[in-house]
Amino acid sequence: MKILGVIGSNRKKGNTSRLVQEVIRAAQQEGAETEIIFLGDYSIKDCTGCEGCKDTYKCIINDDMQKIYPLLLEADGIILGSPTYFYNISANMKAFIDRCYCFEVFAEEDRSCWLSINEVLGGKYAAVIAVCEQHDEKDMGFTPEAMSKPLEALGYRVVDTVRVLELFKADEASRNDKAIEQSRKAGKRLVKTIKLRKYVEMKIEEFKKTYNVQV
Ligand SMILES: Cc1cc2nc3c(=O)[nH]c(=O)nc-3n(C[C@H](O)[C@H](O)[C@H](O)COP(=O)(O)O)c2cc1C
Repeated sequence: MKILGVIGSNRKKGNTSRLVQEVIRAAQQEGAETEIIFLGDYSIKDCTGCEGCKDTYKCIINDDMQKIYPLLLEADGIILGSPTYFYNISANMKAFIDRCYCFEVFAEEDRSCWLSINEVLGGKYAAVIAVCEQHDEKDMGFTPEAMSKPLEALGYRVVDTVRVLELFKADEASRNDKAIEQSRKAGKRLVKTIKLRKYVEMKIEEFKKTYNVQV
């Protein structure tokens, strides 16, 4: 089982990074193989809306996103983490999400019919981490939803959303026991969900034999 952590803050020792790493650590302890990427280390151009991906599901922009697509395809689960920047996700998280548009497929004659290649691959699982400085959740704005809504459209079921307020200085998350605990729980929940899915996949084979059906 593979889990990919995606960090949308450029502060490598910042709060988002600390909490995504905590999710990843918990996932490792549950037996997952893990990888973390800092979006700031990658050069990710904006989606141009060229529709060059329309028939192949491959983005034609040749930049570092091409290194990330295989990681996404291989991962059973992902964690997206972003700080709140003006009530929303960071710019590099937004660019990353937009560039996943190539995984969406629309019916030629009716674009209101669409799905994601992840659905066809069997569906995937995700967790979301959002951190902000202010004390009132309204000051976090759309940050969690700006990740979870696209994830759902991309064929991920979001099993946990961690919202952490009152984090400003880069290392503050380390002293926030509640945030660490919530992040660890998210990592465990993500792995447990994927384990459950793998178990059911196995049981379904018996189920198919019982009813003598091909599904
Ligand atoms: C450009 C910018 C915009 C921000 N906008 C908000 C905001 O709208 N609401 C808020 O509560 N915090 C806001 N913050 C504070 C950050 O969300 C906060 O410092 C967070 O802990 C940074 O996470 P990081 O350590 O992972 O980079 C903003 C910070 C920056 C640099």
